[in-house]
Amino acid sequence: MNIQKNISLKKYNTFGIDVIANRFVEINSLSDLKKIIASEKDLFLIGGGSNMLLTSNINKLVVHLNLKGIIVNDTEKEFVFVTAEAGENWHEFVLWCISQNYGGLENLSLIPGNVGTSPIQNIGAYGVEIKDTFYQLEALEIATGKIKTFTKEACNFGYRNSVFKNELKNKYIIINVTFKLTKNHHKTNISYGAIKTYLQNISEPNIKDISNAVISIRESKLPNPKEIGNSGSFFKNPIINKELFQNLNKKYPNIPNYIISENEIKIPAGWLIEQCGFKGKRFGDTGVHEKQALVLVNYGNATGEEIYNLAKKIQETVKSNFHINLEMEVNII
Ligand code: EPU
Repeated sequence: MNIQKNISLKKYNTFGIDVIANRFVEINSLSDLKKIIASEKDLFLIGGGSNMLLTSNINKLVVHLNLKGIIVNDTEKEFVFVTAEAGENWHEFVLWCISQNYGGLENLSLIPGNVGTSPIQNIGAYGVEIKDTFYQLEALEIATGKIKTFTKEACNFGYRNSVFKNELKNKYIIINVTFKLTKNHHKTNISYGAIKTYLQNISEPNIKDISNAVISIRESKLPNPKEIGNSGSFFKNPIINKELFQNLNKKYPNIPNYIISENEIKIPAGWLIEQCGFKGKRFGDTGVHEKQALVLVNYGNATGEEIYNLAKKIQETVKSNFHINLEMEVNII
């Protein structure tokens, strides 16, 4: 294992923020990972770096988890169990599953990040979340070095949420994830409006068609992190109560909304931010994406602090205009 000194993390985070890791190590095997956690207690894990905003240099040992490999367990008639190591790139993994005709992940095409971090916030898009196909994961307990298996129930998945963002935060390192995928795809999900529209001329869309639709829709409104630094949705879509919704609805009859339950209504944060006039606005090297107001961007040399300050300004404006608290989805480091 080669522990390097003073490494820029710019290429390890999709926001492209240039902070320095005092010490940095690339981990390619489970045995090396075990050695590292036995000798170092203060670690900073980095996988795909797609859901973090780095606001200062990192004094802990930065561990870049690069475990690779995919194993298929094909013993059932209808399903196949596919286990991917944490360091597999998410989108490449999704494409590989589609190439094998394994269904269930196609709606999650083109999401940045790695397999190992996908359960932490239960990544989701276009009507599907990973909890829908998740079977189990294995994780290394940092305090003991023991490997523990987590079932779906144990992960306690919610909207952009799991046990790994709450009581087990920073206690485990996810080393692999197993998905239960379909061999015959009776239950594809094309309920999302834009996908339906895209596929209207295909009578029986297959999982590849759905993936292509998702890729095309995402490319049309979300910036490619390789071109413009970003972390996808910066905020969660807030859930408000009925009373506040009814008040807002009087003033804004066109407010988009999704009814979750009798007293819970989800409002797209992108709409709120756009109404506050931020969409497409640029402030130095940071700004709000022109096609999706939920995405904050780094045009080149923005600092994490500048992006964080913009996020705070957005939160304050949304709060004063709509009485809604926007919660950041991205981890602020
Ligand atoms: N909207 C606006 N202005 C905007 C953006 C959105 O008015 O600038 C309104 C429109 O009414 C639109 C509605 O918001 O119809 C929903 O927009 P969109 O379909 O783009 O979805 P979203 O709710 O903004 C969520 C996820 C995305 C995911 C899409 C598609 C969250 C926080 N974000 O965004 O996830 O791709 O749905 O399923 O739940 C990510 O997490 O990085 C991400 C991109």
